[in-house]
Amino acid sequence: MANVTVIGAQWGDEGKGKLVDWLSNRADMVVRFQGGHNAGHTLVVGNQTYKLSLLPSGVVQGKPSVIGNGVVVDPWHLLEEIAKIGAQGIEITPDLLTLADNAALILPLHRDLDQAREAAAVNKIGTTGRGIGPAYEDKVGRRAIRVGDLADREALEAKIDRLLAHHTPLRRGLGLPEYDGAELLRALEEIAPKILPFAKPAWLSVNEAVKSGKRVLFEGAQGALLDVDHGTYPYVTSSNTVAGQAAAGSGLGPKGPGFVLGIVKAYTTRVGEGPFPTELFDAVGQHLGTVGKEFGVVTGRARRCGWFDAVLVRQSVMLNGIDGIALTKLDVLDGLETLKICIGYEVDGQRFDYLPAGLKAQSAIVPIYEEIEGWAESTQGARSWRDLPAAAVKYVRRVEELIGAQVALLSTSPQRDDTILMRDPFQD
Ligand code: GDP
Ligand code: IMO
Ligand code: MG
Repeated sequence: MANVTVIGAQWGDEGKGKLVDWLSNRADMVVRFQGGHNAGHTLVVGNQTYKLSLLPSGVVQGKPSVIGNGVVVDPWHLLEEIAKIGAQGIEITPDLLTLADNAALILPLHRDLDQAREAAAVNKIGTTGRGIGPAYEDKVGRRAIRVGDLADREALEAKIDRLLAHHTPLRRGLGLPEYDGAELLRALEEIAPKILPFAKPAWLSVNEAVKSGKRVLFEGAQGALLDVDHGTYPYVTSSNTVAGQAAAGSGLGPKGPGFVLGIVKAYTTRVGEGPFPTELFDAVGQHLGTVGKEFGVVTGRARRCGWFDAVLVRQSVMLNGIDGIALTKLDVLDGLETLKICIGYEVDGQRFDYLPAGLKAQSAIVPIYEEIEGWAESTQGARSWRDLPAAAVKYVRRVEELIGAQVALLSTSPQRDDTILMRDPFQD
């Protein structure tokens, strides 16, 4: 297929950034289609480490990149990230980066709201505190300021009034100081000349690329279990993270996303609050966290760790229409004597082979495990399937069988080139 869509099949941090960077080599354009700078994608190339939150991971390989209409954009953060990656030798020019002129902005008042809500224990989701949720609320509430509005002072003024008519009472209720509309206008006017050179009808750029036979790589953020509809609601992010969103969030028709590559970690992690059936609180959980270096890129929080949950990933395969997976971090399981895979759930004596939708049921899940033999050898940095110990191959095959999807790529370390290609998604 000409296009490939990369999405997270669990709760995020599966290694999407690494795989998008690796696949960028085969693509002509890389597009972000949802989320914002709540994402944290780590790319390791030789002795350089790049941490991206908002910029599509294709920029590191110098590929034309697009921030699509489905993304919420903090313009101050965007400039900071451009400067940060610039200091690492990657220059982001308007020739390289297109920012959708119809993407909604994240403003400082969104961050205030996000953080104030998190501070009240009753609301705690464990968000990244970056204003993502409140910005999406304003977008669907039809009062967002969008990238293109930065070019029109009159429109900006009217939109700020409209926005504050909503936010002023909210802020009052939360004990936040009154927001100064004139100051917001000044700040937006100051930043506008730096942002507007990137602003374009991104939907057109993406459609033209596809029409002229270019290969487009869509880069998802977060993961299917954080999807606002399909995830562990309300402990989710505020966007649709599933592959279907690649079309709506970039302005391409539903056939556009092409081959759907689900990124799947060989075990499970989650950051923030919410149900996590296979979570481990023992030495194995600590092993996964330490060896897997499971700390959030954005907030530095320790990620919660647990066994591989085949129930969740099987569901994710269906929700996303996954054509093949990239299995990551198999090396983190090296040295564990016995591994467990969750193959079903029990809730109040009833068996489930999917995640029940209600929070109450999700919180009461007792996982049903299957045990599988581990391996003592190292798989770290393996570059060929033949280099893997037999027990590791068996584990991978069992995962494939249980989730109903096959491995297209296998990642064996954070390094770009420690990647085994079984089936090229662009050629499929
Ligand atoms: P993303 O949000 O899905 O892009 O994933 P993150 O970058 O937040 O987290 C994945 C982490 O695992 C990063 O630190 C990667 O460098 C690292 N990583 C990716 N693939 C592998 C792998 O196969 N093995 C190991 N050990 N680390 C990996
Ligand atoms: P990447 O792209 C893991 C989680 C937060 C919180 C919930 C809501 O790196 O995989 P938000 O700030 O989005 O309103 O927070 O979603 N979360 C992520 N967890 N990886 C991410 O992105 C995440 N982005 C948001 O921890 O539980
Ligand atoms: Mg991440």
